[in-house]
Amino acid sequence: MLKNLLIVAGAVVLFSSNLNAAGDAEAGKTKSAVCAACHGNDGISALPMNPNLAGQVPGYIAAQLAAFQSGERNNAIMQGQVNGLSSEDMADLDAYYSSLKPNIEVKLTEEEAKLAEAGEAIYRGGYAERGIAACMSCHGPSGHGIPKNYPRVSAQHREYLEQSLLAYKKGERNGYNEIMHSIAFGLSEQQIKELAAYMAGLN
Ligand code: HEC
Ligand code: HEC
Repeated sequence: MLKNLLIVAGAVVLFSSNLNAAGDAEAGKTKSAVCAACHGNDGISALPMNPNLAGQVPGYIAAQLAAFQSGERNNAIMQGQVNGLSSEDMADLDAYYSSLKPNIEVKLTEEEAKLAEAGEAIYRGGYAERGIAACMSCHGPSGHGIPKNYPRVSAQHREYLEQSLLAYKKGERNGYNEIMHSIAFGLSEQQIKELAAYMAGLN
């Protein structure tokens, strides 16, 4: 219980930090031409390891681009993409992608639907044994996220969600702070599979 409260208290502090200037979505659209090969023409990617960007919460994409650039978020592919971007470019790309319609037509296979059913309890109720707060307290009951620090986790590829949670668990993906590492650390690989399927099917 106490741990739960501490995790949520950390989130509130985050919420008020990191103010960015708003970007220009039209300019962002032009700048996104180079991103489309991997993230799709409309921010919905064909390959499941490339995240969908459409409908992501405003502010999150710019923050992640800056994290790739500084190396704080470590990914060889994205590092190559952000080399030349200014903070204005990042804000423009952010404004563009967050204005697009998310992909709400995700269809789960029968096997994925079974996993999703098992993932619901932790998403909605947390995992008290490990002091883990309900995922929906930060990512929203429908997974739409909360601007600007809590990303949308619905309308996203199951494979990407699973890989992200595993990377947090192993300490390979650093975020704004330790929140997602301390959460994912307490989850088993099976629970991560279940949560990823649940979030992918949420909308
Ligand atoms: C060659 C393929 C490729 C290109 C081109 C590319 N990306 Fe990515 N992008 C990826 C992959 C793969 C990831 C997942 C990285 C990871 O797992 O940490 C990613 C992750 C991201 C994320 C993090 C999303 C999240 O939900 O945390 C953002 C934001 C992003 N890309 C924006 C862009 C933008 C903007 C451009 C164009 C300037 C771009 N990408 C170009 C492959 C690409
Ligand atoms: C206290 C708030 C909080 C709680 C509770 C929380 N998260 Fe998060 N989550 C965050 C923040 C903040 C980020 C972005 C951190 C970063 O920069 O990587 C994030 C990122 C993520 C991402 C990466 C999304 C992307 O686009 O790359 C996934 C997946 C995720 N969380 C899943 C979960 C799941 C599953 C749970 C419940 C077991 C959960 N989160 C609980 C705050 C929270």
